[in-house]
Amino acid sequence: MTQLRLTLVGMTRSLSTIFVCQNCGASFPKWQGKCFSCGEFGGLVESVLETAARKPSKGQERGPFRLSELASTQLSRFGTGISEFDRVLGGGLVPGSVVLLGGEPGVGKSTLLLQIAAAIGSREQTGGSSEKNLPQKPKVGPGQKTTLLYISGEESPEQIKLRADRLSIRSDYIQVLAAIDVDSVLSQLGTARTEALNKRGGSKIQKKSQSSSRESRLDFVPSFVQLLMIDSVQTMVTSDLTSPAGSISQVQECARRLIAFAKKNQTPLILTSHVTKAGAIAGPKTLEHLVDTVLYFEGDQRSNYRFLRGTKNRFGDTHELGIFRMSGRGLEQIDNLSHEVFEQRREGVAGSVFTITLEGTRSLLLEVQALVSRTPFGLPRRTVNGIDYNRLLMLLAVLQKRGGFSFAQHDVFVNITGGLKAFEPAVDLPICLALASCLKDKPVAKELVAIGEVGLLGEIKRVPQLERRIKEAKRLGFKEILSFQEVGLLKDALSRALR
Ligand code: TYD
Ligand code: MG
Repeated sequence: MTQLRLTLVGMTRSLSTIFVCQNCGASFPKWQGKCFSCGEFGGLVESVLETAARKPSKGQERGPFRLSELASTQLSRFGTGISEFDRVLGGGLVPGSVVLLGGEPGVGKSTLLLQIAAAIGSREQTGGSSEKNLPQKPKVGPGQKTTLLYISGEESPEQIKLRADRLSIRSDYIQVLAAIDVDSVLSQLGTARTEALNKRGGSKIQKKSQSSSRESRLDFVPSFVQLLMIDSVQTMVTSDLTSPAGSISQVQECARRLIAFAKKNQTPLILTSHVTKAGAIAGPKTLEHLVDTVLYFEGDQRSNYRFLRGTKNRFGDTHELGIFRMSGRGLEQIDNLSHEVFEQRREGVAGSVFTITLEGTRSLLLEVQALVSRTPFGLPRRTVNGIDYNRLLMLLAVLQKRGGFSFAQHDVFVNITGGLKAFEPAVDLPICLALASCLKDKPVAKELVAIGEVGLLGEIKRVPQLERRIKEAKRLGFKEILSFQEVGLLKDALSRALR
């Protein structure tokens, strides 16, 4: 088993580990509380020793090639069928690509994985897609059965089945494995692959599968793993390291081994990873450089909206946003969020202004809400949700100096409704209008949309793709647009909106 396992991950002999100081990089054969090199306490972390056997052997380099002489290759993608997910990926999964899906516990990562598998599975069941927009799935050899493999280190197969029942998923194509030992998983996968290849070639199966007895065994018919899902990478461990599950060295080493398998076999791999509330994302942050695509799943518990954002993508751009809603029957895709925001407008409330923001190829309607109240203490508070805190401080200063609105005696709260985020400068003007509207207790017209960056001189600046935003506002039914085209100065915009 050791032989097979080590061959799988590209090694020829057993691993040895060292303890590396995270402060200065000095390494030691044993753990110790203090680094003798830099004097830092508690900074030593166990790591795998990069032996010559692990490094790529000589003669495997490719190139140099003249860039102009290299043939262009067309990326073959396959759509998962969940268009909001495909949109963020840049059109679908690329064979052999590795996606890291990060998010807080309970946001819906496992649900999303299962729904992705179900969507691919249902296309398999109906004999592939006839839809034009869905790219073709990779070719499967004769006699091979396609499978979508969901490996969970957190839940038992029964718990996964419960969730699947709730989501009404009954796909023949999804196989579930409860496992935490990455080497056992890879050895089973490697064996299954050998069986599949042997069956294809008509020869006898040579290698018997070996697996650890404490984990469920894959009931493998020789199959082609079309998608491999690991939920979550922090639960995976390798017995080659003594550090506990979830430690940086375990997470990195397990991810490395899984990624090596994915690249070698051209299997797309999705790894989920937990992110803590405080943003101390020890796990995923240390994996970002290893994977091809990093997606974060975030949401607002109250509104039930869930947003999928890409922060790194080797096969597409990272500006796209996927929008879902968590309902009683899983994640629903939302392709027209603007309409939902539009429906919730209220007449005659001071402190609410609408704007249009851009998220990749999509324009979204946002509501900026502001609340201004007299401060009970000497030092006024500023609280933001969905906008940049420092930007608010700047806008408050501009409002005071250039607009004549002082908030020095007031607590200020600014919120983007629905849990959305707006960090682009185009929301400056709506924020200023909402603040002034609340301070003066004068509502802004229900038909008004404000778009514009506010400069330090109190001027309204041009924003990218204004025409596209105006078009979306008009499509939704807004009658009045306030941008740099209508007013040049913040002062004039304020008097126009609060007349
Ligand atoms: P889950 O996918 O387990 O989250 P994660 O894997 O990110 O930890 O989803 C957990 C939450 O989603 C849980 O609080 C229940 C809720 N949920 C629904 O509201 N509806 C559903 O159909 C499902 C499956 C989950
Ligand atoms: Mg989960």
